[in-house]
Amino acid sequence: MYSELALMPTTNNFSPEILEKLDSLQKKYSAMGQDLPSYLDGLLFADFLTYWDYINLDTLLSLQQPITPYPDEKVFIIYHQITELYFKLSLHEFDRISEAQTDSSITPTFLLERIRRINRYFVALTSSFDIMVDGMDQGEFLKFRMSLLPASGFQSAQYRKIEICSTSLDRIAHKNHREAFSNYSIEDIPKVFNHLYWREGASELKTGSKTLTLKQFEKKYDEELLDLAGRTYSSNVRSVAASLVFTSEESDIKEELRQAMRWLDVNVNINWTLAHYKSAVRYLQRDPEDIAASGGTNWQKYLPPRFQKRIFFPELWSEQELEDWGKRWVKSEVFGVK
Ligand code: HEM
Repeated sequence: MYSELALMPTTNNFSPEILEKLDSLQKKYSAMGQDLPSYLDGLLFADFLTYWDYINLDTLLSLQQPITPYPDEKVFIIYHQITELYFKLSLHEFDRISEAQTDSSITPTFLLERIRRINRYFVALTSSFDIMVDGMDQGEFLKFRMSLLPASGFQSAQYRKIEICSTSLDRIAHKNHREAFSNYSIEDIPKVFNHLYWREGASELKTGSKTLTLKQFEKKYDEELLDLAGRTYSSNVRSVAASLVFTSEESDIKEELRQAMRWLDVNVNINWTLAHYKSAVRYLQRDPEDIAASGGTNWQKYLPPRFQKRIFFPELWSEQELEDWGKRWVKSEVFGVK
C-alpha cells in the first residue's frame, strides 16, 4: 500500500531528468519483480561510501606482519604482496581471455588488449625489482630469512597460474620432456603436470626426493593447478592465438599481436626472471661459497632463463633467438660484462 502511494504522481519539484531516471529505475526493478521503493529506502538509509571502506584499506594495511625484529623484513613482505597483486591483475586478464574463448566471443583486438595490459603489469614489476635488489640490508636479510624457512616465493601459486594460462603445458615441462609432450592430449595433462620444470627443479638431483618447500606446495595447490591446466587446455594464450582467424583488414593487428606475445614471453621469461635472479645473486652469492636457497633449489642453475629456457611461444622466435634465450641480459645486467 505504502509503496504504491509513493509512486503516485504528485506535484513536486523534480526535474524532468530525475523523473526520467525514476521511470527507468521503476522499469528496471519491476522487470525483476522487485519493489522500487524498498530499494530507494536502501539508498536513503545507506551511509556515504568512503575511500577506506571501498578499497578495504584497514584490512590491506593490517596484512604486513613480520615475524622477526629486523625492520627490512617489512620491506620484504610488502614487496612480495605488491607482486602478488600485480599477478592477480594479470590473472584477471587471463581469465577474461579464457572466458571469451569459451563463449566464442574472442577477437584478435580483444586478445591484443589483454596481453598489452599483462605486459604493462610485468614492466612495472621488473622496473621496481630494485626495491628488493638494492633496498634491503644484506646482513638483516640473511638473518630474517632463516626464520622464514622453508617458505619461498617458489610457492607462489599465482606465478604458476600465469604460466599455465600463457601457454600449452608442454612448454612449461622440464626441457628434457618438452619434445616428448609436444602433442599431448587433454588426457595426458596429469602426466605432463608431473614433469613441470619447477617440480623437477625442487628435487634432489641424486636421490630425486622432493624438497619440503615443494611437498608443501603440492599438498596445497596441486589439485587447483591441475584443474586450471585442464580448463585452459584450449584457452591458454598460445592455443587461443593459434585458433584466431584474421580478416584481411586485420593484418596490422596480427603483427601487433605477434609483437605483444613476444613481449609477454620476454617480460615473464626473461625480464622479470632476471630481475628476480639479480636479487638472489645480490643476497645469496658470497665467496667462497654460495648461500643455500630457502626453498632448497640449486638456485644458480635453476633460476637463470638460459638454463630453464622457458619459452611460451617458440613459433615466434628464430632458431638463433631460441638458442640465445636470456644470455645477453644476464651478462650485462647481472655481471656488468659489456
Ligand atoms: C631478496 C629477494 C629474493 C631472493 C633472494 C629470492 C630468492 C629465490 C630463490 C633462491 C628461489 C629459488 C627457489 C628456492 O629454492 O627458494 C626463488 C624462487 C622464486 N621466487 Fe624469489 N627471491 C626474492 C624475492 C622474490 C619476490 C619479491 C618474489 C615475488 C613474488 C619472488 C618470487 C619467486 C618465485 C615465483 C620463484 C619461483 C621461480 C621459478 O620457479 O622459476 N621472489 N627466489
